[in-house]
Amino acid sequence: MKKLFIALLALAGVHTVALADEGMWLPCLIGERVADMKSKGFELTAEDIYSINQASLKDAIVLFGRGCSGELVSAEGLLLTNHHCGYGQIQRHSTVEHDYLTNGFWAMNRGEELPNPGLTVSFLVRMEDVTERVAAGEQVDSIKAEASEGGKYSTSVESLYYGNKHYLFVYQVYRDVRLVAAPPSSIGKFGGDTDNWMWPRHTGDFSVFRIYADKNNQPADYSKDNVPYTPKRHFTISTQGAKEGDFTFVYGFPGTTREYVTSDFVDYTLNHSNPAKIALRTMRLDIISAAQEKDVATRIMYASKHASIANAWKKWQGESLGLARRKTVEKKQAYESRFVEWAKGTEYEGVVENLHAKYAELLPYAVTRDYYNEAIYAIELMGLASPRTLKAEDVEPIYKDYLPAIDREVAVKMLREFGDNVGAEFVPEWYAAKLNECGSVEAFVEWLFENSRIVSKESVVAARAENYNFEEDAAVVMRKAFDEVYKNKIAPQYVALNKEITALYKTYMRGQMAFEPERNFYPDANLTLRVAYGSVAGYEAADGVYHLPYTTLDGIIEKDNPEIYDYDIPQSLREIYASKEYGRWGVELNGHHTIPVAFLAKNHTTGGNSGSPILNSRGELLGINFDRTWLSTMSDLDYDADICRNISVDIRYVLFVIDKIGGAGYLLEEMDIK
Ligand code: ARG
Ligand code: GLU
Repeated sequence: MKKLFIALLALAGVHTVALADEGMWLPCLIGERVADMKSKGFELTAEDIYSINQASLKDAIVLFGRGCSGELVSAEGLLLTNHHCGYGQIQRHSTVEHDYLTNGFWAMNRGEELPNPGLTVSFLVRMEDVTERVAAGEQVDSIKAEASEGGKYSTSVESLYYGNKHYLFVYQVYRDVRLVAAPPSSIGKFGGDTDNWMWPRHTGDFSVFRIYADKNNQPADYSKDNVPYTPKRHFTISTQGAKEGDFTFVYGFPGTTREYVTSDFVDYTLNHSNPAKIALRTMRLDIISAAQEKDVATRIMYASKHASIANAWKKWQGESLGLARRKTVEKKQAYESRFVEWAKGTEYEGVVENLHAKYAELLPYAVTRDYYNEAIYAIELMGLASPRTLKAEDVEPIYKDYLPAIDREVAVKMLREFGDNVGAEFVPEWYAAKLNECGSVEAFVEWLFENSRIVSKESVVAARAENYNFEEDAAVVMRKAFDEVYKNKIAPQYVALNKEITALYKTYMRGQMAFEPERNFYPDANLTLRVAYGSVAGYEAADGVYHLPYTTLDGIIEKDNPEIYDYDIPQSLREIYASKEYGRWGVELNGHHTIPVAFLAKNHTTGGNSGSPILNSRGELLGINFDRTWLSTMSDLDYDADICRNISVDIRYVLFVIDKIGGAGYLLEEMDIK
C-alpha cells in the first residue's frame, strides 16, 4: 500500500520530503534536519554543528581563498584543504630549480612556511535571517555596516530562495596564511586530468597551510612577528575510517546550484552552452597540451591554466551526459505543465509561461555571451590588453606564465569559431573591417601580434621607455572594440532580461513551495556555509558493474607508470609498497593489507566544497572532500541519489603521506588523532 502510494506520488511528480541524501542545508536551521540525520546515524546535536553561544564545528571551517573550503586540525592554526585549492600558491613558489609542484614542499619548521600575499581565509562568525528587516525597507548597506562592527568583520547579505529570503553573513577574514606542506603532484594530482572527476580515484588531493594572527589572535597583514592563530575549535581526526552505509556529513562552502529553474535553463545548458564551451575548450587544451609536451618550462608555466580549463571542460561533459540520461528537460517540462494547470486562478498563473518567453528572448544574448567569454576573452592577449597591465608598476608577475606562441594559435582557432557562430550584429565593425583587410583570420592574428607592444614583458617595458601611446596598440584597440559591443549590445540586454527572470523566479519559487507543501526545499548553493549528509556508498557504474566505495594503495601501484607524467609516483612510495611497512597506517581493506586512499559517499556537494571536511557521526574528520564523479555533476541541476557521489581523500592517506613521504611527521604531533 505504502509502495503504491509512493509510486502514485512519484507519478504525480510530488516529493513527500526532500529525498534522502539530496540537499545542502543552512547550518543555523540544521535543527530541522537533525531528526532525519539521527535516524541515519548522526550522534551530535544542532548546537554542535552551529552555535553562536559557544564554539561549534563551524568555527573549525573556513572559506579558503574565494572558491574552496578548508578545516582547522590543530590548536595552532594548522589547516587542511585540497592540493588543487592550494595549487596557485604552490605554483607561485615554484621555479625550475625549486619545483614544488613536481617534488612537493615540506616546511620542516615554522620558519620555512611560505607566505602567500593575497590569500585569505574567512570564518563565519554568524548568519542571521534579515528577511523582515529588508522587507521593512531597511537598507542592505546599513545592515551590513552595523554588523561589521566598525570594519572588524566582513559582511554580506545574500538572497536565498530567489529573493524570498535574505540572510546576513558575518565573517572574520585572516590575511596571513602560509604554505606548510604539499605533496608532489604525482600524489596531490595523481591521475591528472585523466582521472579528474572519475572513480576509481587515487589522488592524494591535499595541502597544508597555517593561519597567522597578531598577538591578540586578530587578523593582520603578513608580518614576521605574527603568531599561529588559535582557533575556537579544531577537528579531531578519526583513523577508524567508515564502512559502506556509515553516516557522514560534509560541512563547507558549495558555490552554485540551480535546482528550481525551469526546463528552459536546462535546455540552454544541455543543448547550447555546454556543447559550445566544450568544443572551444577542446581546441585550447589541444594547443596547450601539445606545447607542454615539447618543453618542461612550458609544462610548469601552463600547468595551472591547463588544469583550470580542463576541469570545467570535463565537468560539463559529465553534466550533459547526466542531464540527457535523466531526461531532465522532459521531466521539468512535465512538471511545468502540471504546475501551470494547478496555478490557474492563483497568483502563480502565467509565471511559467512568462519564464519560457523571457528565456526565449535571452537565448541569443546568452549564447553570444558564451562566445565572448570562452572564445574572445580566452585569448590571453585580450586579458593583457587591460589597465591592469598598462598601469601595473611591475609587469613581471603578469607575464610570468605567458607564451605568445601558444596564444597566437589559440587566437586563430577562437576567432574562427567566433566568426562561424556569432551573429553579424554582435561582431565589432572594427574587427569585421580589419579582418576583411587582412584577408584571413591567420593574417589578422599575424597582424595583431606584430602590431602590439604588450605581447611580452620586454616589449611593454621598452614601449614605456619610448612613451609609446598604448591607446593605439593593436591589442588594446581590439579589446576596446569587443568590449564596446559586449557592453552596449549584449550585457545590457542580458542583465535586464536576467533581472526579469530573477523576479519571475521569486514568484515561481514561492509557487513551487505552495504546489508541493510537503517537499522540504533547501536553498540553492551560493557559496555560503552548508551541511550535506549521506552515507558511504558505492554505485552501479554500468549494467552489472558495481563500484566499491574505497580505493587503496594497491590501486595506485596498478596505475603507476614512469612513462606518464600524471602516473609516475615517487620512488619512495614504490619502496614503501614493496616493503609493506605501513606502520600505524596499514589496514585490511578490499581483501588486502594496504593503505586506504579515497572513498565515496552520497553527500550533495558542488564546486566550492573542495577542501571541505567529511565527518563521521561524531563530527570527527574522516577525510577531505575534493571531487564528484563526473556522472554526478548534473546534481547542480538535478540530483540523483542512485548515482551522485562525492569523492574524498581518506585522512589516513593524508597522514601517511605527511609522515612517510614528506618526512614531516612532526606536524602530526599538533593534531588530535584518534
Ligand atoms: N574536479 C575537481 C574540482 O572541480 C578537482 C580539480 C583539480 N584537478 C585537476 N586534475 N584539474 O575542482
Ligand atoms: N573539485 C571541486 C571544487 O573545487 C569539487 C567538485 C565538485 O563537487 O564540483 O570545489
